[in-house]
Amino acid sequence: MSSKFNPIEFKINTRTNWNTGASQYYNNWANSDVGPFKSTKELVKAAEIKPDDSVLDVACGTGVVSKEISCLLGNSGNLVGIDISRVALGIAKKSIQFRNVDFIEMDAENLGFHAKFDKIVCQYGLMFFPDAYKVLKSISSIMKKDGKIAIAVHGTQTGVPYVSCIMKSILHHIPDIRVKGTPTVHRFGDPKDLKKEISAAGFTDIKIKKFTFTYHTGNFEEYWEDYMNSTANSIWPKIKTKGIEIVNAIKKEAEQNTSPFIKNEQIEFPWNVLIATAYK
Ligand SMILES: C[S@@+](CC[C@H](N)C(=O)[O-])C[C@H]1O[C@@H](n2cnc3c(N)ncnc32)[C@H](O)[C@@H]1O
Repeated sequence: MSSKFNPIEFKINTRTNWNTGASQYYNNWANSDVGPFKSTKELVKAAEIKPDDSVLDVACGTGVVSKEISCLLGNSGNLVGIDISRVALGIAKKSIQFRNVDFIEMDAENLGFHAKFDKIVCQYGLMFFPDAYKVLKSISSIMKKDGKIAIAVHGTQTGVPYVSCIMKSILHHIPDIRVKGTPTVHRFGDPKDLKKEISAAGFTDIKIKKFTFTYHTGNFEEYWEDYMNSTANSIWPKIKTKGIEIVNAIKKEAEQNTSPFIKNEQIEFPWNVLIATAYK
């Protein structure tokens, strides 16, 4: 890994990680409607889908948002989902019965469409795009006049303690675990930053709604296992190379960070999510 952030390398790793983790992500998170995924229904509600809409789902992953949207579309409506993970797209294809749907392997930073869409949605994708501004600009260029976007992102470090309780401790003990400048899941967690990015791309009437969902992770051991197998699966091999003493120190500090959220040995995390809507 180079010591300077390299967007190409980041994208290749992102694709590999999502290809590896897509099934687990679908079964344990996205399709289980748990914690942050309560946002799927809220996002689709915010998009105000009409039966004859032409809809694009950017970074559709395993298709949970697309599936919800497909239930609202009629015979003259259509839906396209794009993602860079072929494995995730395979799961999406299998899970949706709707006739007018296509899932295409495509990089959100290189959207290749001539068609124009009424609605474009993106759930938990924006923070992964190294050049989010470019994505929003090209989304705008493939929208019909008065088209609407609906975008969901995770909250700040404080608002998403599931991620930060362990990650803060990892960064404390291994500060170079990720290259400086690597996008984080909290990147647009402050409504001001999200609004600024959307506004810079030329969208108007931007509205941002904050939701706080709850996520139960069992006891600390279960949380640690779950985290290392999902959120941290790509960095776990590097953490292990630091040796058992460092791993134990990370774990101990993470448990201390988690203590405010433990009730009767069970962890209950709040999980902040922002849903932004705007018009072209
Ligand atoms: C957290 S998942 C969200 C998936 C889906 N929207 C959902 O709500 O379940 C993030 C998705 O972004 C995709 N992704 C990351 N970078 C991408 C890019 N540059 N272009 C297209 N998809 C990308 C990943 O492959 C992954 O499926």
